Amino acid sequence: MNSEDLFALAKKRGFFAPAAEIYGGISGIYDYGHIGALIKRKFENLWILYFTLPNNFHFLDCSTILPEKPLVASGHASLFNDILVGCQKCGIYYRADVLLNDLGIKVSEGANTEEINKIIREKKIKCPKCKSYLSEAKAFNMMFDIYLGPEHLEKGYLRPETAQSIYLNFYREFNILRKKLPLGLATIGKAYRNEISPRQGLYRMRELVQAELQIFFDPETWKVNLELFKDMLINVVMYENGEQERITINEMINKYNIPEFYAYHVAFVDYFYENIIGVPSEKLRFFEKGGDSKAFYNKIHMDVEVDVESWGGFKEIGGIHYRGDYDLTAHSKGSKQDLSIESNGKKIIPNVLELSFGVDRNIWMLMDIFFNKNDERTFLKLKPYIAPYIAAVLPLQNDEALEKKASSIYNLLKVKFNIETDTSGSIGRRYARMDEIGVPFCITVDYETINKESNNYDTVTIRFRDDKKQIRLPIIELEKFILAQLEPNLLPK
Ligand code: GLY
Repeated sequence: MNSEDLFALAKKRGFFAPAAEIYGGISGIYDYGHIGALIKRKFENLWILYFTLPNNFHFLDCSTILPEKPLVASGHASLFNDILVGCQKCGIYYRADVLLNDLGIKVSEGANTEEINKIIREKKIKCPKCKSYLSEAKAFNMMFDIYLGPEHLEKGYLRPETAQSIYLNFYREFNILRKKLPLGLATIGKAYRNEISPRQGLYRMRELVQAELQIFFDPETWKVNLELFKDMLINVVMYENGEQERITINEMINKYNIPEFYAYHVAFVDYFYENIIGVPSEKLRFFEKGGDSKAFYNKIHMDVEVDVESWGGFKEIGGIHYRGDYDLTAHSKGSKQDLSIESNGKKIIPNVLELSFGVDRNIWMLMDIFFNKNDERTFLKLKPYIAPYIAAVLPLQNDEALEKKASSIYNLLKVKFNIETDTSGSIGRRYARMDEIGVPFCITVDYETINKESNNYDTVTIRFRDDKKQIRLPIIELEKFILAQLEPNLLPK
């Protein structure tokens, strides 16, 4: 599906839309509608289950406003920059790497101002809109600064990543949680980035939701259970090679010298997307960044990418970042508090492995991957546990007796599950709507359901979203049927 169709469907069915749209909207800021909000919440709950439960990790919920000092210490105040160029005549600003890449000139995300200025001079790049000269490139810090208090004297920032909130809570949580490594602290929450000219819908937002797990560990002692994943095949583009290849986790370790703990977590993330979310393996890959395209805090950096038709290729939906002891060392210095701990008889600053995901990008990706459109219908093939409603109870026709029975079944189930019901329009139209919002099962009440003489009395049909097949089930078995659909298989057998 192309991005316009996806956007149109998202607006029509209540997935998401530009915020303040009746005033013309605001770039890079979106609201989730009633369907999108349900899918997002289910995705987040599933993410928490998968990324915390198997290892007994923990979940924190932190503020989005931070004082200035931690973000100076973390390097964000000086280094969290994009390169900006502006048109001297029409006043439009461009993110320089995007502008040049759009013109077919390859530059990395981390290119500096000198490199950009050199390219602009040598290639005589002008404003694509009015063909006038561009200003000198300059670094533009992407954080939103805010000023607190009635006199606006205390400077703060809206956090640019949720990660910092976790680092700031590490020491306290470590002590409360029995001083053991590895310690995993996860969070889901808003982060803010003043993107220069956000395009591409939920892929580039100024207010975004991140789901991040920070694992604090001692590199000398952390042993992962590699047996679980060592032969698993994954698609990678390694920095050293530059070509996409399909290799095992063992090969990644031996051929590319990737530490076991890191390779294990590449597999762990791959398993989540392929087996829990259902992304086809050919659409998923891990792209290693190096040189100046690696984020400033990373020792090893891989983007998790999914091939999305709407944006014409692989796009980042997350990252696996080995941040070393960068962050806790920075906050030890910045706060003048010693954040070192004891591990294996030694004083160390724990290392951090970060598994970071953009929730909004994941929601767009789900729509892109799972919308199936054919001549006859459009249906969103989400796994039942992330579908907005697990089922819809529908009377076959507009008939008082059928509606009454449907309503009693709906009331029975709605207190236990996210269930939808709909009585307006023809059954065909109602099925079509349920297909488009991804409801996996329609529970249909027909005349046999209410006919005491029928062998099918007190039974309903279940219509399956993906193949339109129908089965008949007694009403008393509905709860068991639904429960069986909701269990994701959390770990490989
Ligand atoms: N915390 C990593 C990121 O924001 O990309």
